[in-house]
Amino acid sequence: MIALENVTKRYGAQTVVDDVSVRFGEEGVTALIGPNGAGKSTLFGLVGRLVRPDAGRVTVDGTDVERTPSNELAKVLAVLRQDNHVAARLTVHDLVEFGRFPHSRGRLTVHDREHIERAITYLDLEAYRNRFLDELSGGQRQRAFIAMVLAQDTEYVLLDEPLNNLDLRHMTEIMRLVRTMADELGKRVVTVLHDINFAATWSDRIVAMRDGRVVADASAREIMRPEVLAAVYDTTVDVREIDGRPVALYYG
Ligand SMILES: Nc1ncnc2c1ncn2[C@@H]1O[C@H](COP(=O)(O)OP(=O)(O)OP(=O)(O)O)[C@@H](O)[C@H]1O
Ligand SMILES: [Mg+2]
Repeated sequence: MIALENVTKRYGAQTVVDDVSVRFGEEGVTALIGPNGAGKSTLFGLVGRLVRPDAGRVTVDGTDVERTPSNELAKVLAVLRQDNHVAARLTVHDLVEFGRFPHSRGRLTVHDREHIERAITYLDLEAYRNRFLDELSGGQRQRAFIAMVLAQDTEYVLLDEPLNNLDLRHMTEIMRLVRTMADELGKRVVTVLHDINFAATWSDRIVAMRDGRVVADASAREIMRPEVLAAVYDTTVDVREIDGRPVALYYG
């Protein structure tokens, strides 16, 4: 279980995560939604120990992340960051291999290699495995980073906008992969999504943030209501029922 207890993070006078208490780990797939600047990436940073809280506590399986050695945390928790800056002169295979580092410490076993191959196959990257990252399209590069996170093979997986740059087919395939990670590999995935229809279709639970606070936390059906979405995004969103599922219309 990932647990945040009364966690606050400030930058100067601005409180960007405001006394948040929330738990992740019961459901297979949780979508984290909310407007730009709501605090979603900062919340992930706090869990992944890239950001230190000003108040409160973050625990993973009962242990305070502040007291967990990085390598131990990386064996149970993987984070796909929203903005990945990495040496461009790295091949796809090298990047995915990095995902095994917490386990292998640089000495790859047969088991490590299996994870690397599985991740490359799942992300449809065989044809690009020896390409440098700066020789890929935006979507191919995004898939390479997701492959790295998959190869890390952790119980908890935090994905910050994994659908960035992806085309229609790959968006759906990534969400199907996320479901497989939860349902077949037993992982607990929390994923930031801006497309609320993807969130509603593929997740078990939706947590909505706004202004540093959790303002809604419920099933997709309960979140996909015009009044809830208006309160989260401060804009009008129409919701229709299509094939028995709520679908938000926000293209006009
Ligand atoms: N290092 C920083 N220094 C100062 N302010 C920061 C820093 N990082 C984030 N912020 C501010 O904190 C707030 C929350 O940012 P955060 O990146 O968590 O939002 P987000 O919900 O992930 O938004 P988006 O959907 O745009 O990715 C924003 O107002 C942002 O400007
Ligand atoms: Mg963000």
